[in-house]
Amino acid sequence: MSSIHAVRQPPPIGAATGAVAAPTFDVQRIRRDFPILSQKVHGKPLVYLDNAATTQKPISVIEAERDLYERYYANIHRGVHWLSVESTEAYEKVRETVRDFLHAAETREIVFTRGTTEAINLVAATYGRTRVGVGDEVLITALEHHSNIVPWQILCEEKGAKLKVAPIDLRGEIVMEELERLLSERTKLVAVSHVSNALGTINPIADIVRLAHAKGIPVLVDGAQATPHLEVDVQELDCDFYAISGHKIYGPTGVGALYGKAELLDAMPPYQGGGDMISSVTFEKTTYNVLPYKFEAGTPNIAGGIGLKAALDYVKGIGLSDIRRYEEKLLALATEKVGAIPGVRLIGTAREKAAVLSFTFQGVHPHDVGTVLDRQGVAVRTGHHCAQPVMDFFQVPATARASFAFYNTPEEVDALVAGIHEVKRMFG
Ligand SMILES: Cc1ncc(COP(=O)(O)O)c(C=O)c1O
Repeated sequence: MSSIHAVRQPPPIGAATGAVAAPTFDVQRIRRDFPILSQKVHGKPLVYLDNAATTQKPISVIEAERDLYERYYANIHRGVHWLSVESTEAYEKVRETVRDFLHAAETREIVFTRGTTEAINLVAATYGRTRVGVGDEVLITALEHHSNIVPWQILCEEKGAKLKVAPIDLRGEIVMEELERLLSERTKLVAVSHVSNALGTINPIADIVRLAHAKGIPVLVDGAQATPHLEVDVQELDCDFYAISGHKIYGPTGVGALYGKAELLDAMPPYQGGGDMISSVTFEKTTYNVLPYKFEAGTPNIAGGIGLKAALDYVKGIGLSDIRRYEEKLLALATEKVGAIPGVRLIGTAREKAAVLSFTFQGVHPHDVGTVLDRQGVAVRTGHHCAQPVMDFFQVPATARASFAFYNTPEEVDALVAGIHEVKRMFG
């Protein structure tokens, strides 16, 4: 058995040293928490390696939503009756859980959104609309997901501003000297992903923030792919905005959050108008609610929020440092084994990577690779991964992408490798 099966967990904080041994990272036990993983697909055990697209849900998340609907569901923030008070309290606990998860200073800095995409659009539509003008610049990088490109393109088009792009190198790392050179007195915002979904690159966010702040430029971080794999501390990173998606981190779809520094959020205009985001309304004038409600118009995704809390609690229960250690070994194993197959080209070989293995297979379209793998029960994503500029840079139309979670195993890496050999047998 590979040593990856038994990564020891550090003792809980506050536990006396030398006390009872801490439990091991037991991937088989973890897998039992995810009902979907135990099924067969095309007669083969499911090997789910599409975690960068979305992650599967543990029972605790599924049951948290069910429990809400069975016991205490009502609309929040509006009722004096028992159910409404219960659901409001539960929903506001989600905010505290997200705050704690991101290590933000205050809950009013956590704005609920539908996900990362909406969080970025919120900043573009509020901060962007008021701060970016003709001739100004927004700086992104060449490895962004479309959701961290297109909102800025729309904004720049509307305002007559310029979208600048910091380049990447052949490993898939941001060229930091170029990024620094592109920070100008016209730059109004830097928007960068923490982890690239197409390449797995972990970007040096703290360094980018330092360079940008030295010129007084705020930084938005797209954290969609980072939060499932890395401990994130927004205060330590000192970023100004941080966007996350619930479904990437074992929670439900349709819920996510934007962290923003209170002084920035305070100065920003509302995102959408409607109920909950106001403190008073007359036909002459509306005054807006305090943070974070100013940015939360309408009935939110209450059940999604409840599920998100269960997901973050679950991840915290395992521990992100153990998750990171385990996934690093899994990725190293996959990189070595897949990279050794003749005809495979790895796309994205950054020195710091998280959980993503993108590759092409000589002479075979990635969609065919994905289809053959699917017949073996192995689910990978094929396509441009909503990062077409990355594909253009590497001069490939698409890649096959295996992306890992802490419930994946070394045996599943072997199934991936066997599947690629099958591709070779069929097309070779
Ligand atoms: C890096 C990155 N940013 C943003 C997004 C968009 O996230 P969502 O679709 O949850 O809004 C994704 C989703 O794949 C992503 O990988």
